[in-house]
Amino acid sequence: MRKKIIAGNWKMNLTIAEGKQLVQDVINGLQALPHHKEVVFAPPFLQSVMVSELVNKTNNVFVAAQNCSAFANGAYTGEISATMIKNAGMPYVLIGHSERRDYFNETPTLLAQKVDQALAARLQIIFCCGEPLNSREQATHNQFVADQLRDSLFHLDAKAMENITIAYEPIWAIGTGLTASAKQAQYMHAHIRATIHAQYGETIAKDLSILYGGSCKPNNAAELFACEDVDGGLIGGASLVANDFIAIINAMA
Ligand code: 13P
Repeated sequence: MRKKIIAGNWKMNLTIAEGKQLVQDVINGLQALPHHKEVVFAPPFLQSVMVSELVNKTNNVFVAAQNCSAFANGAYTGEISATMIKNAGMPYVLIGHSERRDYFNETPTLLAQKVDQALAARLQIIFCCGEPLNSREQATHNQFVADQLRDSLFHLDAKAMENITIAYEPIWAIGTGLTASAKQAQYMHAHIRATIHAQYGETIAKDLSILYGGSCKPNNAAELFACEDVDGGLIGGASLVANDFIAIINAMA
């Protein structure tokens, strides 16, 4: 069944004390979540065990890692494996965020390896895609995003695809204050669903959750979430402010 998910990607922000306060404030302000709606916190690794312990008594609130290693285990200094993430109580991992692709040179092939590691560890994946501004300006954005899906996901079989959530994050909208309009978001989300449909068939496409990310704020969330193919959001800056994140969670009907 298609889930509604609001995920907060803290990126490289907040101390342990600040993170703890934020999670407590959000949980205290949260209305009970229906069974098909989830809230996900994606803190930096140093805080993730603390956040997992804070949320584990609250229904439908989960923790995601922001990244995982492309390797299973061994001599890879500085890396965290998918198995370690699962073992620490986190059911989700983000893979393919544009900041990892751009600043850490993560290639489609490397991302496919991370996807395989995450699935082998039985993690749910939030797979990020999205085009840069020049692709949007040249009207190649549909092909750009379809290529990202094909290059890092389409080696999976249909059963494995059940563990994938897509986050569409146009790079020109991340942290810029520029949001895709509801029309642009719906158009791309429908395109992503159609691309998945063509590869995996109707059931997988219908059950796929597709999140929008990129300057999603309390004042634009309801309009974005009202779109037929927008199943929630991957929120950056606004997820660091408890009242803003709660307002965005509440904007998802
Ligand atoms: P902003 O909400 O700060 O634009 O960030 C979006 C994002 O990159 C979430 O992963």
